[in-house]
Amino acid sequence: MIRLDGLGKRYPDGTVAVDSLDMGVGRGELIALVGPSGCGKSTTLRMVNRLIEPTSGRIVLDGDDVTKVSTVQLRRRIGYVIQQVGLFPHLTVGANVATVPRLLGWEKGRTRERTAEMLDLVGLPAGTYADRYPHELSGGQQQRIGVARGLAADPDVLLMDEPFGAVDPIARDRLQGEFRRIQSDLHKTVLFVTHDIDEAVRLADKIAVFSEGGRLEQLADPASVLGAPANQFVADFVGSDRGLRRLAVQPVEEQDLVQPPVVRLADRAADARAAVDRAPEGYAVVVDDAGDLRGYVGGPALAQAPGDAAVEDVARRFGETVELGTYLRVALSELVRHDAGWLPVVAGDRYLGVLTPEAVYAALRRTVPGDGGVDAEQERPLLKAV
Ligand SMILES: Nc1ncnc2c1ncn2[C@@H]1O[C@H](COP(=O)(O)OP(=O)(O)O)[C@@H](O)[C@H]1O
Ligand SMILES: [Mg+2]
Repeated sequence: MIRLDGLGKRYPDGTVAVDSLDMGVGRGELIALVGPSGCGKSTTLRMVNRLIEPTSGRIVLDGDDVTKVSTVQLRRRIGYVIQQVGLFPHLTVGANVATVPRLLGWEKGRTRERTAEMLDLVGLPAGTYADRYPHELSGGQQQRIGVARGLAADPDVLLMDEPFGAVDPIARDRLQGEFRRIQSDLHKTVLFVTHDIDEAVRLADKIAVFSEGGRLEQLADPASVLGAPANQFVADFVGSDRGLRRLAVQPVEEQDLVQPPVVRLADRAADARAAVDRAPEGYAVVVDDAGDLRGYVGGPALAQAPGDAAVEDVARRFGETVELGTYLRVALSELVRHDAGWLPVVAGDRYLGVLTPEAVYAALRRTVPGDGGVDAEQERPLLKAV
């Protein structure tokens, strides 16, 4: 969708903000640009919509070299959302959202309709908000208007420069959640600059880590950037607690699950007891003939049951299950919340195995590259001791 070819910007004072950047962005992909302050993220973003003219290289958008097309045409295809200052203070919220459609000469009725639609999309209905002025809104609401404005002309590409950078953490969390929902509907191709690695991990399909001069150090999905930083620079940037951050992007997978004994509803209690006695877990999971989860047996209830009782009559139900694909962070918090050493994992009703704290840990370890992670040497022995 977007291809940056040897893209560079040398400012008139000689500063090389971006040296020579090669990068591709797939259609519908959200790439977060992260890196230390001054590494050329904003410059890169603004070259894409030609707010800044590159001094070398090309930008290819959907096959067109946009270093040549008119900027008006370009702005129709590319929305732009920036931090706070983005709104025109003397224009109403409605007029702010309508900026690009007006610029493009849309007919009035269509512009009004589209504006209302966008305000709805960001949860600020036109009836209440369209005639207000930006200063009458909270910081979080202003940022939503910024997003609505960026999307108003239905661009294929959205450029966002620290769009949620100026709001408090609670508003930011909500904005991120809402933006995720919007993006999962609209599938825009998005370049998103942020200095917040957690924001990048939460929102991005891929993270591009830059160092000074717009040097691309790594471009990969969040789990890989956190689990397998390409080099020391990336490792330092994503932080020493990146292992914990990975909980937010690593899903529960079948191969990580523990497999305690499994018995069927029609089995006899004596057989279930024998199965439980042979395994270290101290319980057995109960499934029906279709392999669907029905409960578990163990403890005094099983120990005291007559040997010929049916498992069905001594089984207990689970209060909670974990769906396959749930992020480890959510699954771990369920484990803690239910004060349970284990929770069954299902796909729909089908029972797959059991999640334990050890399984969570194993999943995190598995996603660390086999060898040669930049600090594998330092980390392994320490973690083994835990
Ligand atoms: N108009 C300008 N003239 C000269 N240097 C600039 C200008 N704008 C940005 N720079 C410099 O270019 C580098 C990259 O800036 P920028 O793209 O804003 O970084 P980031 O967004 O990653 O913080 C910095 O060293 C910055 O000081
Ligand atoms: Mg910047």
